[in-house]
Amino acid sequence: MENEINALKEQLAASRQEPRADAEQFRLKFLSKKGSVSVLIDAFRALPPDEKKKWGKDLNQLKAAAEAIYEDLKQGEAASVDTVATHVVFDIPVYLHEPGGKHPINLVRDEMLQIFSKLGFEPAEGPELEDDWHNFGALNFAENHPARDMQDTFFAGDRVLRTHTSSVQIREMESKKPPLRLVMPGRVYRNEAVSARSNCFFHQLEGLYIDENVSFADLKQTLFYFVSAFFGEGTKIRFRPSYFPFTEPSAEMDIWAGTETEEDRRLTKGTGWLEILGCGMVHPNVLKNCGIDPEKYSGYAFGMGLDRIAMLRYGVKDIRDFFHNDIRFLQQFAAY
Ligand code: PHE
Repeated sequence: MENEINALKEQLAASRQEPRADAEQFRLKFLSKKGSVSVLIDAFRALPPDEKKKWGKDLNQLKAAAEAIYEDLKQGEAASVDTVATHVVFDIPVYLHEPGGKHPINLVRDEMLQIFSKLGFEPAEGPELEDDWHNFGALNFAENHPARDMQDTFFAGDRVLRTHTSSVQIREMESKKPPLRLVMPGRVYRNEAVSARSNCFFHQLEGLYIDENVSFADLKQTLFYFVSAFFGEGTKIRFRPSYFPFTEPSAEMDIWAGTETEEDRRLTKGTGWLEILGCGMVHPNVLKNCGIDPEKYSGYAFGMGLDRIAMLRYGVKDIRDFFHNDIRFLQQFAAY
């Protein structure tokens, strides 16, 4: 009897792990007149009384568990807490729910944080609703200067939805003393025409390194290291001069996305290159604005676009796909 009960327990456990088992098949196999639970109960009836005493409880539990599984299967869902509580058979594994997964933007963010943590960069965060000083003023955007038009801003009363994570640089430099080595991920907002390559909100990872004698070569080396760690050795990049009011000199980096398909051409405006970051040496005025002596300290900063990086990593051709919350899209990342 013992062997048979154990064998049946195992079979039931196995059937529980099969998430789309058919209820009727289960009933036929275990609970119908010729089903293995019923057959075992028939055998039990023929036992002498002292044997019956020994096995009766186990068998009842087994039957109750089989019935509970059958009910679950019929309802097409996992055992409710009630069913489990009244028919406790601890060695039958619970019916597995499909697990959730991380959002692709978070997958990319976490991997980037990890790469930078190896280089000694610590994470920091700041608010999405910012004041003009942290988003613009301290970053050397002159009042009424056209540079402010670079980033079409959403205003909220006397505040703004931050247009970049560079605002977090300012908060960190104001509140901490160099040396600083930080990475600051977060969501940013821009009042831009929405398209396959730009959305009205997106995500950045800001980097900041302030110390004595930090050079442009250090910046380049860090970014190149990042690209080969994240995208692999030999990734095709373009590093070109640019302008930001808060860095001098400034640069931008593009990654080769190709021009083969119509989608690639649309995404890269026909060039094959996708811009993933802006960077540069922190402007002395910015250091001064945060109470850091530019005679003593220098540093670099960069702001990477997480959404663009996720598009390159996963071959997503439209940035908006990340935010429809379509379960069929999101499920593709559950295994990562
Ligand atoms: N804040 C810039 C942007 O959003 C990127 C940047 C960050 C450039 C840091 C230079 C230094 O486009």
